[in-house]
Amino acid sequence: MRILLTGTSGQLGRTLATNLADVAELITPRRADLDLSNSASIASYIQQCKPDLIINPAAYTAVDLAEKESELAYRVNAEAPAVLAQEAKRLSIGLIHFSTDYVFDGGKVNSDGTASAYTEQDQCAPLNVYGASKLAGEQAIVDSGCAHIILRTSWVYSDFGKNFLLTILRLAKEKPELNIVADQWGTPSSTMFLSDATKQILAQLQQAEYPMTWWQTHQGIYHLTPDGVTNWCEFSQEIVTYAAQLGLLSAPLPQIHGIPSSAYPTPAQRPQNSRLDKTKLVQQFGIVLPAWDKALHACLQAMAEAKQREADN
Ligand SMILES: NC(=O)c1ccc[n+]([C@@H]2O[C@H](COP(=O)([O-])OP(=O)(O)OC[C@H]3O[C@@H](n4cnc5c(N)ncnc54)[C@H](OP(=O)(O)O)[C@@H]3O)[C@@H](O)[C@H]2O)c1
Repeated sequence: MRILLTGTSGQLGRTLATNLADVAELITPRRADLDLSNSASIASYIQQCKPDLIINPAAYTAVDLAEKESELAYRVNAEAPAVLAQEAKRLSIGLIHFSTDYVFDGGKVNSDGTASAYTEQDQCAPLNVYGASKLAGEQAIVDSGCAHIILRTSWVYSDFGKNFLLTILRLAKEKPELNIVADQWGTPSSTMFLSDATKQILAQLQQAEYPMTWWQTHQGIYHLTPDGVTNWCEFSQEIVTYAAQLGLLSAPLPQIHGIPSSAYPTPAQRPQNSRLDKTKLVQQFGIVLPAWDKALHACLQAMAEAKQREADN
């Protein structure tokens, strides 16, 4: 199977490129080969490389900057997925696309007023330009009628790139105290976990006797994160504690204080409740979700092993 995999210089794209290399032939264009902000160039690129499947983790992900660069965010997050979907439809191939918890406004509550997890059927109401542009991308894919799986995830981190995990590890070495937002709730998702789940979905597609029939019964939007819920403050405490156990950080460790979002204003508003209900994904694909802290430990463990290998060489 030939897979066109976008965004391989990014966190998730890079992990997918490593993880899927043994199960498919990957076409991994850099931005210079395939600029997703230039939708006119996308169709001809796809026609040239003739993939059997498109996987699109590429996105404009600068959430705060998107408030100023909304046109660019829409070109990459909405127009490009629309063209990928049109081409997938034309070539009768599937599209696996990644989206975000930021399509929701974070206000979902149970009848008793406690926060409730969002299902795929819940109304979307993004609070910021990034979320709105990603939602427009989802809608374009669904409207195209192509065979698609849209995986909405949240709080993505890895051992590489720009992410919360690496920021906390850096700040923990630089500062004696950290003030971290404690009133936004969601689930951190490592790219190792996300790429492993994607690989499991891909394996089911590859085993299907009639792939287009498989798409008919499996296509749709799914929520994909590890299990459990935390907030940014608890997440940072777990990072520091476990990184110290593995020798990635040494004493003195910083004191971590929880603060409200109002004390850390950002250009883009974020949802306070990013809980995603994964029941649909688990039932459809049988994917076992690790607890979010176990997925974090696995990522930190891999970082510690890489550091040890470097030291040994
Ligand atoms: N990061 C999160 O916390 C988060 C949360 C929820 C959902 N998601 C979704 O998860 C997916 C993966 O996110 P990520 O954190 O792995 O993203 P990332 O690390 O920011 O990587 C984004 C990738 O997209 C590429 N890209 C951006 N603009 C492009 C353009 N005009 N043409 C071609 N390529 C372009 C980047 O290439 P360059 O290196 O050339 O810029 C990079 O390879 C995205 O769909 C994102 O919306 C992310």
